[in-house]
Amino acid sequence: MKLSSANINVMVKACRKAAKILIRDFGEIENLQVSVKGPGDFVTASDKKVEKILIEELQKARPNYSILSEEIGQINNDDSFKWIIDPIDGTANFLHGIPHFAISIGLEHNKEIICGIIYDPIKDEMFTAEKGNGSYINNQRMRVSSRSKLNDCIIFTGGPKSDSKDRELALKEYLNFSSKVQIPIRKMGSASLDMAYVAAGRCDGFWQRNLNYWDIAAGIILVKESGGFVTDFTGENEYIKNKTILVTNSKVNKEMIEALK
Ligand code: IPD
Ligand code: CA
Ligand code: CA
Repeated sequence: MKLSSANINVMVKACRKAAKILIRDFGEIENLQVSVKGPGDFVTASDKKVEKILIEELQKARPNYSILSEEIGQINNDDSFKWIIDPIDGTANFLHGIPHFAISIGLEHNKEIICGIIYDPIKDEMFTAEKGNGSYINNQRMRVSSRSKLNDCIIFTGGPKSDSKDRELALKEYLNFSSKVQIPIRKMGSASLDMAYVAAGRCDGFWQRNLNYWDIAAGIILVKESGGFVTDFTGENEYIKNKTILVTNSKVNKEMIEALK
């Protein structure tokens, strides 16, 4: 059993409270699929409700921390401590009644991610990590996979969104990668869970272009604390600079970089 830090406890508490609304709303989605208006507005409202609860709870516990959250944007802009929030990651899944989405919260200290949690409320899987203290799934220690050949791997990717400026490039990358390696490539629809699954050793790597910081903030620390690599597609830079991210176990990083070229 691990000892959770005070910050992780704050994040878990906020997440569990917000997840109650999320689960309740997800139960309504099925009825809305057949309504004339569809579930679009309802999902936007859920997103905002979940975000509001998360922010209220986090602010109650840590009034001085800044916030960057997908719907509301920036609250304060002091770099010393900042929560990075995606209230629903995997909105398209949520909207279609597909039970694969998550709440994602990262905590930055002086621009470095030091804590992260990703919570899948439907499967009740809580992924947590803190710098120097390892990563956990429901309090069980996680490690990245140990597969050493890309040919034995399963890889996740996401996007490109229809409005993505790099859509064509992303499609080319996908075709190039899938023609070089004949392995299963999955698009699960939630970047945060994609990264959590790499951290848990369920899949061996994940790449995507054009992600926002709230999609990946918590996942970064999860993967690092599980012993994986987080870079851009060249392997030379930090993920965020050009908005491409590549995460892998510690063994197939070079092969992945080659296959993405
Ligand atoms: C999206 C999901 C998806 C990824 C998209 C993201 P959202 O986040 O993470 O897997 O492919 O690029 O925007 O919109 O559901 O919060
Ligand atoms: Ca997202
Ligand atoms: Ca979102």
